[in-house]
Amino acid sequence: MNLQPSSRPVVLIARRVFDEVVDRLAQHFDLRLNQEDAVWSHDQLIERLQGVDGAFVTGTETIDRHLLEACPRLRAVCSMAVGYNNIDLLACTECGVLVSNAPDVLTETTADFGFALMMAAARRIAESEHFLRAGRWTRWGHDMFAGADIHGSTLGVLGMGRIGQAIARRGARGFRMQVLYHNRSRLDPALEGALGARYVDKATLLRESDHLVLVLPYSPAAHHAIGAAELALMKPTATLTNIARGGVVDDAALAEALRERRIAAAGLDVFEGEPQVHPQLLQLPNVVLTPHIASASLPTRRAMAHLAADNLIATLGLGPQAGHPPTALNPQVLVRP
Ligand code: 8YV
Repeated sequence: MNLQPSSRPVVLIARRVFDEVVDRLAQHFDLRLNQEDAVWSHDQLIERLQGVDGAFVTGTETIDRHLLEACPRLRAVCSMAVGYNNIDLLACTECGVLVSNAPDVLTETTADFGFALMMAAARRIAESEHFLRAGRWTRWGHDMFAGADIHGSTLGVLGMGRIGQAIARRGARGFRMQVLYHNRSRLDPALEGALGARYVDKATLLRESDHLVLVLPYSPAAHHAIGAAELALMKPTATLTNIARGGVVDDAALAEALRERRIAAAGLDVFEGEPQVHPQLLQLPNVVLTPHIASASLPTRRAMAHLAADNLIATLGLGPQAGHPPTALNPQVLVRP
């Protein structure tokens, strides 16, 4: 922690990040670090943001109005996540704080993982691996861990942004899947054609998908977009994969549907109240559970962190992009007199 008076802007990096990113930021700023990756309460975060001009955050820090009012010097909040439901964007704009996220650089990696999780659920990979490790594999069986096919089946994508489109492309081109999607707004027909995806209403998506993947951003409107009523529309042979955000799915209702085999299986990378996981989900064999790692390839995590650094440097008026952060969410803040 640097407590020396200085004319350089002061930046807090709220979580442990790559040393190369710390080194880059140290060329421009006086840094306050958390390289031990301590878990801070909201009040501790506020305390550490006193006298700070810019914050480098992830998807795990809550930036709300209370924090902004308690940290009047803060001018930039730059996140290395694409999702920004942890940041009150309106409050930031009203307080003159520039916010940026980290889109694009994680699209293909996250789509790869969504596909992997869907395939693991459909082909019962985790369940069968646990069986083998437990020493229970004594003989071959004709229907042992027989699951559902991916190729030639119907892929449903809920939320057709960048990552949804990357998943649709994998399904249509790589696996000859019929691709259905539902989204707040319909895509341009030319793009639909290029993706090989057909727009349907949400009920049709739920009814017809063999493998449903959730990729919509979290907002209060998306809370429990998949609950008991939606699960009841799905095929008993279907799988559900959530790489969006906890809260998009009602995890208790999902656990119940999986337990009663009203759907076949699920792949979950995100959870309501994570890192806590609904205790019933932990008991079920037909769900693959991963700890929010969809974007976690090393090159992609590096790219996400460097993009957040680019934004921070540019927002605080330094570097070649000074005044023009590449992925600002509220750029109107910059043109204020
Ligand atoms: C992050 C994510 O790893 O980018 C996002 O929105 O969910 C993940 O890629 C997570 O938010 C931590 O920053």
